[in-house]
Amino acid sequence: MRAARVAAAPALAALALAGCAPRRASPPAPVPATLKAALGGRFLVGAAVNAEVFSGRDTAGARLVREQFGSVTPENALKWESLHPRPAVYDFDAADRYVAFGRDAGMFVVGHTLVWHNQTPRWVFEDSAGRPASRDTLIARMRDHILTVVGRYRGRVGGWDVVNEALADDGTMRRSPWQQIIGDDFVELAFRYAHEADPAAELYYNDYGLENAAKRAGAVALARRLLAAGIPLAGIGSQEHDGLDYPDLAAMDSTIAAFGALGVKVMITELDVDVLPRAVRQTGADVTLRAAARAELNPWPDALPDSVQQALARRYADLFRVFLRHRGDVARVTFWGVTDRDSWKNNWPVPGRTNYPLLFDRQGRPKPAFDAVLDVARAAAGP
Ligand code: XIL
Repeated sequence: MRAARVAAAPALAALALAGCAPRRASPPAPVPATLKAALGGRFLVGAAVNAEVFSGRDTAGARLVREQFGSVTPENALKWESLHPRPAVYDFDAADRYVAFGRDAGMFVVGHTLVWHNQTPRWVFEDSAGRPASRDTLIARMRDHILTVVGRYRGRVGGWDVVNEALADDGTMRRSPWQQIIGDDFVELAFRYAHEADPAAELYYNDYGLENAAKRAGAVALARRLLAAGIPLAGIGSQEHDGLDYPDLAAMDSTIAAFGALGVKVMITELDVDVLPRAVRQTGADVTLRAAARAELNPWPDALPDSVQQALARRYADLFRVFLRHRGDVARVTFWGVTDRDSWKNNWPVPGRTNYPLLFDRQGRPKPAFDAVLDVARAAAGP
């Protein structure tokens, strides 16, 4: 910067001497304020994309993603039920389009997710008579799935959520079919197979509710076990399906610090902020949770009142202040969706609501929360 200014000075002086008042060059076309420009020097900013976006059918959504974000995650296209619905059937159509969309735009492409107890067909865990599969059978299926999927996108998917949600709320291993049939070592095996399939890919553990002290401790213990066993765990993803008043910022701060101290990357992987009345006591993100629709749970079907809009902006500012404070540790922040229109929060845990959890409104226009995030990024950058 300084060198450029010095170099320009003689030219201006020459113009003045020549009798031409130095005219200001017409201002360059304004660079659109983007999340990736404002935050990209600190961490990657990503979005989960659905098939409408990555297939390009939602042209405005696809444009918005290319303009604003430096990374993508597939909302559903790489889950087991999408890719591998029956034992001998793999369907890569949507997944291939997703990966091509991210690569063509030069984005960091995330794979989500290889081993999870949800959105995984029942046959995976059963034998031909419908009884629980044996440990050996389930391990063989997991290995085949991971080698096939990770192998297909070797060198193109930069990082994988290898295991999703293996912990219970008390920090012990969740009693999922994976854990019940294989045992606790299913996590380690999944990472070994993923590493075998693409030794250069980053491998992550991903979960929700990690601000809860017991679950945080469980995640730290799990990560330590993996690292001690020589597993190349590259990072831990904290989903962050948050609300206006949860989780507590200090607890979030402690979680990021605890994971950072392990020497792995910390990623916020599924960020959104629910503004609607809470339908259930729980603040996690168990996708099987359902609550009945009631009018009082859907108070703003037409527009968000300004007071809530402002509260959402303040909440996003607070969250990004925490992320930026840990910018040595936080490697990526990914939003779970692009616009409020396509957020899963319109249908979870209550179906058919009108929620407002993201930075872009239903028309794809930036909301006050978007400006608040950019302001926080500028303030963190200094004058
Ligand atoms: C959600 C998707 O957004 C929905 O479309 C789908 O019906 C259910 O799953 N934690 C995760 C994500 O890791 O994969 C979930 O995504 C949200 C909670």
